[in-house]
Amino acid sequence: MKSSILAGIFATGVAAQSGPYGQCGGNNYNGPTTCVSGYRCVYQNDWYSQCLPGADSTTLKTTTTARSTATSTTSAPATSTSAPSSGKKLKWLGINQSSAEFGQGTYPGTWGKEFTFPSTSSIQTHINDGYNIFRVAFAMERLVPNTLTSSFDQGYLKNLTEVVNFITSKGAYAVLDPHNFGRYYGNIITDTNAFGSFWSNVAKQFASNPLVIFDTNNEYHDMDQTLVLNLNQAAINSIRSAGATSQYIFAEGNSYSGAWTWNTTNTNLAALTDPQNKLIVEMHQYLDSDGSGTSATCVNSDIGVQRVIGATNWLRANGKIGVLGEFAGGANSVCQTAITGLLDHLQANSDVWAGGLWWAGGPWWGDYIYSIEPPSGTAYTYYNSLLKKYVP
Ligand SMILES: *[C@@H]1O[C@H](CO)[C@@H](O)[C@H](O)[C@H]1NC(C)=O
Ligand SMILES: *[C@@H]1O[C@H](CO)[C@@H](O)[C@H](O)[C@H]1NC(C)=O
Ligand SMILES: *[C@@H]1O[C@H](CO)[C@@H](O)[C@H](O)[C@H]1NC(C)=O
Repeated sequence: MKSSILAGIFATGVAAQSGPYGQCGGNNYNGPTTCVSGYRCVYQNDWYSQCLPGADSTTLKTTTTARSTATSTTSAPATSTSAPSSGKKLKWLGINQSSAEFGQGTYPGTWGKEFTFPSTSSIQTHINDGYNIFRVAFAMERLVPNTLTSSFDQGYLKNLTEVVNFITSKGAYAVLDPHNFGRYYGNIITDTNAFGSFWSNVAKQFASNPLVIFDTNNEYHDMDQTLVLNLNQAAINSIRSAGATSQYIFAEGNSYSGAWTWNTTNTNLAALTDPQNKLIVEMHQYLDSDGSGTSATCVNSDIGVQRVIGATNWLRANGKIGVLGEFAGGANSVCQTAITGLLDHLQANSDVWAGGLWWAGGPWWGDYIYSIEPPSGTAYTYYNSLLKKYVP
């Protein structure tokens, strides 16, 4: 997450308390901000705080950063793109696995407290349903705690590798997602050589696994546009030079990699080149009013198509292939129609869209509005039967 976020204010004054693993804070969240006895409210990211076991009273980190608010001019109803090829299937449909990057800002943090790793049994459930791609988020600060070019923390690498190997041993793709927003310890990464070294080191670890996908970074934002281009190109060059030549690489864009603003923001990324020609442009799209993925309310039942159609046209005009690396909608009929339209659109344009990944699965999402974690996640019970229709 998330495309464009309004600076958030945590709701106060609600008497009830959140239960175990329930949400207790986050931008646009309006529920209880304290936890039942034995649990404490832990900041995970600007959009989500959660009641985790523990008695100490951790204070919520409030958001003080003003985020760029991409203004959403309501676009005219979408005219459909040309030549949808019926009967086509997406190459990928899958799920973001979010948990190893939790506890953003607390580094390295403690396993089981600030962060954990995805549940392989939940991933197995998804694989049984036909999903074939999982985006595994992690924190660069935990993998390389000292500098971008330093050696790996072996414990974190081992845990990450176990999840990746589990996924790929089942024949599914595992996307390595440094969930860093183009930043390292909060500072924008400007050293493209160091960034390349980081990717060279990661690529060497996974060079022999063709089902691993390298996602250069999650959601660059508020960065120099040429820097975003250069960081992506440095990652691509370094991954290939390190001997990882068979894998796909996902490149994300500025402005939270939003599909809806891609054709005005990230047009320079058309210049990215990959000697192996396995570069995929990864965009994200949420369907709430500000596109931030913090509300269960979708703008209207056609908003999925409206928000990505410009990106579809951009991909085709520039000879690129895209993947919708994050998408989601609330558990209600307006969003359901919008999500259906979105997936129909991706599938009909599968010459330029390789697939999509629901945001998000992971063991710690509790009653999060988009949780697709089996067996009882809000989106799992509401959306799984629909999404399954689009698996490859
Ligand atoms: C995946 O989950 C993480 C969890 O924090 C979130 O920040 C991220 O935006 C999600 N998806 C994408 C596509 O980044
Ligand atoms: C890795 O996972 C194990 C449990 O399987 C845990 O005990 C350990 O603390 C974890 N280490 C890191 C760095 O994540
Ligand atoms: C850019 O993309 C948006 C969102 O899909 C779309 O509404 C708009 O018409 C596109 N603009 C151009 C010039 O293609």
